[in-house]
Amino acid sequence: MATWVITGANRGLGLEFVKQLLAEGHTIIAGVRNPEGMDFHHEQMTVYQLDVASTTSVETFAMNVKSSVPSIDVLVNNAGRMGRTMAVLGRGRCRPIPRSPQCQHHWSTSRFTSPMAASPR
Ligand SMILES: NC(=O)c1ccc[n+]([C@@H]2O[C@H](COP(=O)([O-])OP(=O)(O)OC[C@H]3O[C@@H](n4cnc5c(N)ncnc54)[C@H](OP(=O)(O)O)[C@@H]3O)[C@@H](O)[C@H]2O)c1
Repeated sequence: MATWVITGANRGLGLEFVKQLLAEGHTIIAGVRNPEGMDFHHEQMTVYQLDVASTTSVETFAMNVKSSVPSIDVLVNNAGRMGRTMAVLGRGRCRPIPRSPQCQHHWSTSRFTSPMAASPR
């Protein structure tokens, strides 16, 4: 079984990843903007606060992850919103959504290189 870090784990695709992976017996470290609002809980899941728009929050989250597990096998850097040109919603409608900073995902991923490198997988 693997240790997965999943950001934006409180709803949408992130929460679905969490539920399916827990059902398979994996260990989850979840990053969510508002941990108190997380209404899904599991003994194999640890939840830490994370706002990917804040470098301080990402650094703190990375430290929490590193202190709770010796290594991570998979990082699912899922948190965020679709960019303006991709914001296709249901019923054929489009809605303008502010573009999230694309480089933020690359930078925050780099915070996890050491625990990922420590993975035996
Ligand atoms: N669904 C699709 O068809 C599709 C297609 C291509 C790419 N994607 C990408 O896949 C990811 C998930 O999509 P989704 O449909 O599941 O979106 P969603 O339902 O809108 O969920 C977005 C998740 O990201 C979190 N989030 C947003 N901004 C955040 C921030 N600054 N810090 C921490 N968490 C933040 C949200 O948390 P809050 O509840 O706190 O807002 C939520 O958990 C997104 O990055 C999206 O761009 C989705």
